[in-house]
Parts: sequence; structure tokens; C-alpha cells
Amino acid sequence: MAVSSALWVGFLIMIPTSSAAEGTLAEAAKAKGRFFGVSVLAGQLDDSQYVDIINKEFSAVTPENSMKWDATEPSRGSFSYGNADRIVSSVGEGKTLRGHVLVWHQQLPSWVKELSGSDEVQQAMDDHIAAVAGHFQGKVDSWDVVNEAFEGDGSRRHSVFQDQIGDGFIEHAFRSARAADGGAKLCYNDYGIESKNAKSDAIYAMVQDFKARDVPIDCVGFQSHLGSSAPGGFQDNLQRFTDLGVEVQLTELDISGASPDAYSNVVGACLAVSRCTGIIVWGVRDSDSWRDGSQVLFDGSGEKKEAYDAVLNTLDA
Ligand code: G3I
Repeated sequence: MAVSSALWVGFLIMIPTSSAAEGTLAEAAKAKGRFFGVSVLAGQLDDSQYVDIINKEFSAVTPENSMKWDATEPSRGSFSYGNADRIVSSVGEGKTLRGHVLVWHQQLPSWVKELSGSDEVQQAMDDHIAAVAGHFQGKVDSWDVVNEAFEGDGSRRHSVFQDQIGDGFIEHAFRSARAADGGAKLCYNDYGIESKNAKSDAIYAMVQDFKARDVPIDCVGFQSHLGSSAPGGFQDNLQRFTDLGVEVQLTELDISGASPDAYSNVVGACLAVSRCTGIIVWGVRDSDSWRDGSQVLFDGSGEKKEAYDAVLNTLDA
């Protein structure tokens, strides 16, 4: 007995202490009242490792490309939801679904770019929003209604929507989205706005104006395609937006080099802001990422990276 106790104690002492927390990202985020999700490529859904990681680790999904205009309305009035529906039914079950995206200047079919005149473009935009948001009504938690409409200097980006309809196109899109789906949260989504800068100031002013005039906006998506370190003042910037009465979400997180410290700091910034309601990482494995190199939480073999442990520990702290 004495011998076996000694062996047992010896065994315990030999267990390596690991800084990695137990559990999954989804569970740890849920305990903090947040979703933790990932973008999904329809073309990877036959890869069982890919699907297993999504189902085990993530509580939210965003179709990475399949809800975009070129996928859902490739020619006028002809709608196709095959890949998006497949994502929703195969890995979306029981998870928070972020809809991405209703109005964006990229992945826009040429027939839209060739329209001219405010009425024509507005009609096409209204029809698109009504059909797509209507199709997913009741399933989407948050829609990226308008994506990347501002330049870095805070001016409006040229696009067929901006150039033909004018500044009012964003407000118009949000009102159309509310009419199409009264239950989804409606988000403005952009990159390069994680710190306080000319672009985030311009979006802040727009949200402030929308709230003052009851234009339906519920959230701002901070894409968070980041360089090698966490952006300065991220938490304060998130906080000033939530002080306007909107939620914030980190909608497309990836970090060049996948520094564990940077991931930890970014997740910590969200956790420190009570209305930062969730995080989506943009890609399951590095091999799925739109960016080269180490970016996300799983390597190309599907193994957890140090950044994964850092995120889980931060969620658990
Ligand atoms: O669907 C075609 C396929 O038929 C063809 O064989 C293949 C050949 O290259 O291309 C496929 O389309 C690609 C598409 O992804 C689907 O895989 C496009 O070339 C490619 O450009 C496209 O890239 C996407 C990019 O948006 C387009 O701008 C990325 O996967 C996606 O991660 C990226 O996501 C954007 C967000 O929506 C908005 N914020 C920035 C973010 C990164 O750019």
C-alpha cells in the first residue's frame, strides 16, 4: 500500500504541467457569453477533418464566399443558394450564423456593375437584399449588410452603389435589410478600423448619425485582418462604438504569423467590452486561409497551434 501510494505520488509529480487549457473554444466562449466561430468554404465540406474541427471547436459559422452577390444572384433575378444552404445545413446546425454579405463592391457580378442610374441600382440592391435576406430569414443571427464602403482616409469608396445612389446607399440598404428580416442583427463591416483612425472615425460618425435618426443598425463588424501584433487602442475603440448603442463583433480575425500573444490580446480586448458579443476566425486551418503562411488557429495538418492554446487560455481566464 505504502509502495503503491509512493508510486502514485511519483506519477503525479511526473505529469508535465501544460499551459494549455482543457475544453473547446466554443465551450470557453459560451461560458463568457460569446460565440466563437469560423468562416467556412463550401468546397472543403467533403473533408472530414475540416468538418470535425468546425463541429468540435466552433459555435458560430460564416460562409466565406457562398452568400456573396456573385454566388447568390449571378444573373439578375436568378438566385442560387446551393453552397450557402449546404453550409447552413451541414455545419450550421445549432450554431450562430453570420450572414456575409449583402452589399459589397467585390465579388459583385458584372451585370450589377454595368447598371446605371440611381433608381436602377437601388432597385437591384433592394431586390437582392429582399431575396437573400428573405431566404435566410430566421436562420441568420447577424447580417453584414454593407461591407467596406469607406476608404482609409474616411471618404466613401467608389462603387456602383456609391457612385450611382450616393451617400444614402448605406442607409437605404439597412432599411431594406430590416424589412427583409426583422429578426437579424444588422451590421456594418470593415477592415482597418480596429484602432482609432480616420476610417474608424468616419464609421463612428455614421453609426452615431444612424442611431440619432433611427436608421436600423445593430452592430459593427471589425474584420481584424491583422499584422503581426494586436492593434493599439483596440479595446477603447470597441468600447466607444458600444457606447453608441451597437454591438461589436470581430468578424474575420486572422493574424500574420499567428503570434499567441497577439491572439490573446485581441481576444482579451473583446472580452473586456461587454457588448463585444463574438469572434469569427477567418479560416479553419492555415491551408484554408486566404492569406499565405501562419494565420489561424490550426495548422495545415489540422493540429492545434500555440495560438489556439493562447486563445483558449484567454477565454478561460
Ligand atoms: O469560385 C471560383 C472557382 O470557380 C475558381 O475555380 C477559383 C480559381 O481561382 O476561384 C474561385 O473563386 C475564388 C473565391 O474566393 C472562392 O474560393 C476567387 O478566385 C477568390 O478571389 C475568392 O477569394 C475570396 C475573397 O474574399 C474575394 O475577395 C476569399 O476566399 C475570401 O476569404 C475573401 O474574404 C474577404 C471578405 O469577404 C471581406 N473582407 C476581406 C476578406 C479577405 O479578402
